[in-house]
Amino acid sequence: MKILVTGCQGQVGSALAALLPQALPAYEIIAVDRTQLDLSDFGRIRELMQALKPALVINAAAYTAVDQAETEVAQAMRINGDAPGVLAEQAKQIGAALIHFSTDYVYDGSKQGAWVETDATVPLSVYGRSKLAGEQAIAASGVPHLILRTSWVYGLTGKNFLLTMLRLAQTRDTLGIVADQIGAPTWSHTLAEATLAVIRRAGAPHQMAGLSGIYHCCAAGHTSWFGFAQAIFAHPAITRRPVLNAITTADYPTPAVRPKNSVMDIRKFEAAFGPLPSWDSALDACLRDVGTV
Ligand SMILES: NC(=O)c1ccc[n+]([C@@H]2O[C@H](COP(=O)([O-])OP(=O)(O)OC[C@H]3O[C@@H](n4cnc5c(N)ncnc54)[C@H](OP(=O)(O)O)[C@@H]3O)[C@@H](O)[C@H]2O)c1
Repeated sequence: MKILVTGCQGQVGSALAALLPQALPAYEIIAVDRTQLDLSDFGRIRELMQALKPALVINAAAYTAVDQAETEVAQAMRINGDAPGVLAEQAKQIGAALIHFSTDYVYDGSKQGAWVETDATVPLSVYGRSKLAGEQAIAASGVPHLILRTSWVYGLTGKNFLLTMLRLAQTRDTLGIVADQIGAPTWSHTLAEATLAVIRRAGAPHQMAGLSGIYHCCAAGHTSWFGFAQAIFAHPAITRRPVLNAITTADYPTPAVRPKNSVMDIRKFEAAFGPLPSWDSALDACLRDVGTV
């Protein structure tokens, strides 16, 4: 049986491509990057799905340039909103299941306390709207699917807050970090492990129908971007330690509006598939791999 992983050069896609082949030896893992499967080319999606006929598709590809999406609306909507629907329609046709990643940015951040999966979605940005449209297209297709809403993804490759902090610390003695947005920093490897837990729990892709739906899937606990930065620079592997100043969202304006509260309740995922690590223990594990910086 085949598992098709899209976006295999991305943070989550590369973590999946590294973990799944050795963890699931009974499956053939076919990990494709943008050059092999460009999600904006719907004809190519159909062609590849019909040629490979995977039992499971894991869609880790997405348009993730949150600020750029404010001006590249059509492209963000095509890749995040429409393409997942084409993948889902194809998966349904060939009897496959679909695991898809979505985002905390479907919420408006106004809630006091953690968001639950049934809360109203009110995205504040084009990116959030495009991801929500993708979720809706998948659900409407009727394919067996899991939508894993995650947040604040980081790892040792790609573009993310952790690597930005380490890069800035090479040249700056002081950093201003936003302290009034809270969420759960989530290691890309945690998401690969969580996806593996889903596949193992389902037993086989065609048995995923009973598990279909939306799940919050991010690290346990929460912090602010400022707290995340403090934890990064407190780690023994990191030797350059700039002075960190807490600033507000208003001090650091961006084209896309971010939710103030991105904290998601993960009890539904944990009840179905097992525990997720705390954000700080995952950060510690991630940085243990980094060597001394
Ligand atoms: N990053 C976060 O903080 C975050 C937070 C919440 C949810 N998520 C969701 O988590 C999932 C994985 O995100 P990530 O952090 O791994 O993102 P990422 O590192 O930006 O990876 C996304 C991958 O998608 C690829 N891609 C972009 N446009 C494509 C297209 N038209 N066709 C095929 N591939 C395309 C990119 O290719 P190139 O390398 O060629 O650009 C990249 O390899 C996404 O669904 C994202 O929306 C991410």
